[in-house]
Amino acid sequence: MFVSDALDINSQGNLTIGGADTVALAKEYGTPLYVMDEELIRTNLRRFHTSIDKAYGGRGMVCYAGKAFTCLEMCRLVASEGDGLDAVSIGELYTAVKAGFPMEKVGFHGNNKTDEELAYALDNGVGHIIVDNISELKRLEVLCAQKGVKAQIMFRIKPGIDAHTHKAVMTGQIDSKFGFALETGEAFEAVKEALACENTELVGLHCHIGSQIFDITPFEEAARVMTGFIAKIRNELGYEIKCLDLGGGFGIKYLESHDPVPFEEYMERVSVVVKTECEKHGLELPFIIIEPGRSIVAPAGITLYTVGARKEIPGVRTYISVDGGMTDNPRYILYQSEYEAVVANKASQERTEKVTIAGKCCESGDLIGEGMSLQHAESGDILAVLATGAYNYSMSSNYNRIPKPAVVFVSGGKSRVVVKRETPEDIIRSDV
Ligand code: LLP
Repeated sequence: MFVSDALDINSQGNLTIGGADTVALAKEYGTPLYVMDEELIRTNLRRFHTSIDKAYGGRGMVCYAGKAFTCLEMCRLVASEGDGLDAVSIGELYTAVKAGFPMEKVGFHGNNKTDEELAYALDNGVGHIIVDNISELKRLEVLCAQKGVKAQIMFRIKPGIDAHTHKAVMTGQIDSKFGFALETGEAFEAVKEALACENTELVGLHCHIGSQIFDITPFEEAARVMTGFIAKIRNELGYEIKCLDLGGGFGIKYLESHDPVPFEEYMERVSVVVKTECEKHGLELPFIIIEPGRSIVAPAGITLYTVGARKEIPGVRTYISVDGGMTDNPRYILYQSEYEAVVANKASQERTEKVTIAGKCCESGDLIGEGMSLQHAESGDILAVLATGAYNYSMSSNYNRIPKPAVVFVSGGKSRVVVKRETPEDIIRSDV
């Protein structure tokens, strides 16, 4: 009925998430409001790590990509499931530290990490650092020497795979700001350099080919190319890489028409490729890391808004304005991402109109979507935009000095705030 298993309709005809009435949630906590079904987040994490157990004998780890959505409570949740974390900035690392996350299970990413960030990662015992470029390797060597520590590192590799997704989220091809290119020999030269380093140990190779990918073939291809590179390093340099981090990027259902591949099938097929290639090259099976972000949290989240103005422009379109917009969901203005929406207090009614949902920012492009099929929406209705659990809160801004919404977790019909709503005082917090 809906794009996410977390959603249903109750006897009052209202939309529910994780068993909680969304209209009641909007009333209790106000709007705009991010609501996430905690149980579905846990289920999604478990599906990934169980698939590693089944398909790859448990020789692997899920490192949830915090960039999709993180906060203290999300870090605690991931830790309680026994999974790891992919962090990309001092802010994400700090959140994990403050949540008491086991830092040895954290991988630190980024194409331009600062010395401050690298030092913070070393001081807090981050498990591995995914080095993006040679200048970072050199800076890390110096920092490690100064601190008298040896860092476990991986190299981010561009495996040269085109994963057919939006160009802003495509990262595995050669023209990308991320990582070392394989085809040009750059990656191989960098490995030689790393092996000569004293204060870093090259334990793994990493790749991430893009995001919101529906097809498993590019993942299989990336696994084949990466295992081949591990073989080349062993054959030519006599050094065997122990860990293969295959990144994230698994597509989810935003629209009814989307048909994502089940996570289990991804792991099964990729495991076959890695095992076959390792056998062919006489390699030990590497420890595999995967970094799902969107697929863990997107389907578990919705955003609730209150409908304000309704503007019918005859022969043109109908605008439904809501009390949020590009500040809490910048994905339409950035990528023209499509969403489904429901009038939460009319969820059992027919969808009778096609509308443009507009935000409240001073910007004509501030839309949640165009041509969206919806129940007749009027001022005061509660609008739910579905599958907003990833890259919404985490990419939100204070444009127009709009305070950010609260985030509420729902579990077994009960709700609790995990991120407080910002107030106007928060808006001037850093002003002097
Ligand atoms: N690992 C690495 C190194 C990444 O760069 C990313 C995402 C992930 C894992 C997680 O990918 P996921 O499973 O979530 O697809 N803001 C864009 C998405 C950017 C993805 C950036 N990297 C969006 O809203 O679609």
